[in-house]
This record gives sequence, C-alpha cells and structure tokens, in this order.
Amino acid sequence: MRAPLSLLALCAALLLATGAAAKCTENTEGWDDLSLGGCKTCSADNSTCEECWPRFSLNAEGSCVECNGMGEYGAYCTRCDPEDPSFCLECRGDDEGNLDFGLYGNEEGKCTPCPLEGCQECAPLNGTCQYCRVKQGLIDGKCQACEDDSALFCNGGVSTECYSGSFPDTSTGTCQACPANCDRCAGAGVCDVCDIGFGPDAATGACVPCESEGCQSCSSPGVCDMCEYFVGYWLDGGACQKCAVKHCAQCDGDVDFCNICNHPKGEYGANPTTGACDKCAVADCANCEDDYARCRLCRDGFYYDEAAKQCVACSTLDPHCTDCGAMGYGPQEGAPTCTECGQGWEVAGEYTDVRCIKSKD
Ligand SMILES: *[C@@H]1O[C@H](CO)[C@@H](O)[C@H](O)[C@H]1NC(C)=O
Ligand SMILES: *[C@@H]1O[C@H](CO)[C@@H](O)[C@H](O)[C@H]1NC(C)=O
Repeated sequence: MRAPLSLLALCAALLLATGAAAKCTENTEGWDDLSLGGCKTCSADNSTCEECWPRFSLNAEGSCVECNGMGEYGAYCTRCDPEDPSFCLECRGDDEGNLDFGLYGNEEGKCTPCPLEGCQECAPLNGTCQYCRVKQGLIDGKCQACEDDSALFCNGGVSTECYSGSFPDTSTGTCQACPANCDRCAGAGVCDVCDIGFGPDAATGACVPCESEGCQSCSSPGVCDMCEYFVGYWLDGGACQKCAVKHCAQCDGDVDFCNICNHPKGEYGANPTTGACDKCAVADCANCEDDYARCRLCRDGFYYDEAAKQCVACSTLDPHCTDCGAMGYGPQEGAPTCTECGQGWEVAGEYTDVRCIKSKD
C-alpha cells in the first residue's frame, strides 16, 4: 500500500522540478509592453512557445529567454543564443531612429556599428553593407547619395526604389514620374493606386477626382469605397454622407446622432443619450471623444482614476512626478506609474514601485 503513494509523491516532485506544469502565456501587446513576457505565439495546447518577440530567443524547451547583450549597444540586441543570452546574433537600431547607423552581431556576439560609414543594414558576423541609409546607395563600395533626387534607394548608379508618384525605370536606371494624380505605378502608362481623393476612370485608366464630397478612395469616380471617416463622413451606398451634429467626427447611419466627437482641442465628447457633442464633464480631461462623461485621456501631468471618474495630478504619486502616462479609461491595465520627474529629479524603480530621486548631476 505504501509503494503507490510514494510513487505519486515522486511524480509530483518531478513535475515541479522539471516545470512540466508551466504554461505558455501569449503577450499580445508585444513591443508596447514586453514586461508581459516574450512569447508572441503559443503552441495550440498552450504548453510551449512557438515564436518569441524580438529581444527574446526561443530555447529547446519552448520558453523565451530574454537577451542580455553586452557592451555599449547591448540593448539593441534583438536575437541571441538562447543558451547564452549575452551572445547576440541580430541587432537592430531603435524605431525612433536615435541611431543613424546600422548595427550587426559580430563574431564575439556583440552589437557593433556597421563598419561602412552611412550603412543602415549590414550582414551578421562579417558586417558587409547591405543597405545604405535612405536616399543613398552603394556606389564604388561606399554609401553615397543617389544621383537621382526621387530615389529612395539606389545601387551603383541605378535607382532601385522611388518615392511615391514615381517608379524605378529599368531602362534608364532612374525614377520616372507616374501618370498624373497617381500614387503608385509600375510603369508610366498604368496607375496601380491613385492619390487620395482620386479614382481610376474606367475608359482611360487615368486618375480622376472621386465625385462624392469627403471621398478618400473610389473604385470609379462615381463609386466611393472609403470616406474621410474621422472628419464626419461615412459611406452610404457608394457615396459619403456628412454628419449634421456640430463637432462630430463619426456618426454611423444617422446624420443627427454622433458617436465620436472631434474638436481641435478634443474637449467635446458624444452624449450617448442625445447624440450631441457635449463638453467633457471631467475636469482636466484632454479627450473624451466617445463619451463626454468619461475621460479618454487626461491632460499632461494627470492620470484617470476610473473609480472616482476624475483626472488626478501625477504629483499625488510622488511630489516630484510631472508625468504619469496621461492615462484615461480604456484597455490599459495596471496602476499609473510615474514616467517623468521635474527638473533635478529622475525616475527610479520599476513597474509599481516608481519614485523620483534626486539627479546625480
Ligand atoms: C490557450 O490560451 C489562450 C489565451 O489565453 C486561450 O484563449 C485558449 O483557449 C487556450 N487554448 C487551450 C487549448 O487551452
Ligand atoms: C557576409 O555574410 C553574408 C550573409 O551572412 C554573405 O552573403 C556574404 O557573402 C558575406 N561576405 C563576405 C565578404 O564574407
């Protein structure tokens, strides 16, 4: 009678020790909140991860390991060896463009600036330049300005990608203009996508103005597909209707009932009972577009307290806090945290334990 019991205990101990009971949690916020974990896609039964977000690498057990790049550019590590998270395989500059050069993972696993000046993207390990920065191309082994002003990228003297309204002409190696009022084309004769507010004429293929006022794109001049939605138009049988309510940005199907209001300063919101656009009821609210009684976004230096339905000063979190994310009601989760401190002070701590401390310099 004792054997089965101790076997059970042994199994339970093994389960705990190997972490077999661990579950994969999918992080749907991704880049917006990597603190929710590194897994982008879990397996169908949620037992392991199948794809990690950049800055994480998948290990053999199906978990995402956070990269921990070393050196000056270690924070730009986007893929690493999951067995040695300090060894970077891929590096990438930030989306804000704070770096005006490319990075690559060198043979020591360190993120390193591309050796060639002006190079935006270079091969892993050897650093061979693959793309120069915008408006430049590899010419005689160096990143140099494209000769052609409408070229987005070039290679040698040849334009390979062009700004909208033009196309790379292989016969001349330069960017040539698309037909009039055309945004994208593969050649001078036929337009693929007309400019905003224009559509193709069935007989000639030329881009001509859409007929309906407020129309953004039309499949033929008389048939609108998309209206300028957030400035008060909506699509009704191939034509655009305009909302009649003052300050209205969006009304669906009833010109006299507004769902979302819009005002240069944002202080009007829809009244769900009357359909009018009323002034925001919450003090210090910067935007209450879909409901005048609740605040979507408090003004800088305030956060929204959903329970109290009030915008509360960030200084209540910490006396030196000047910004705390300007949150309003809605999908964002968790408590407000300080994101900016006043002059002479800086943000310290993480997640729920954020304070302002005196700056060192
Ligand atoms: C896996 O997790 C997701 C999200 O948590 C859930 O919607 C889904 O039902 C889970 N699938 C299984 C098989 O448990
Ligand atoms: C550098 O690496 C890339 C891809 O990893 C490869 O295509 C290229 O041939 C290499 N260049 C040299 C000079 O070794």
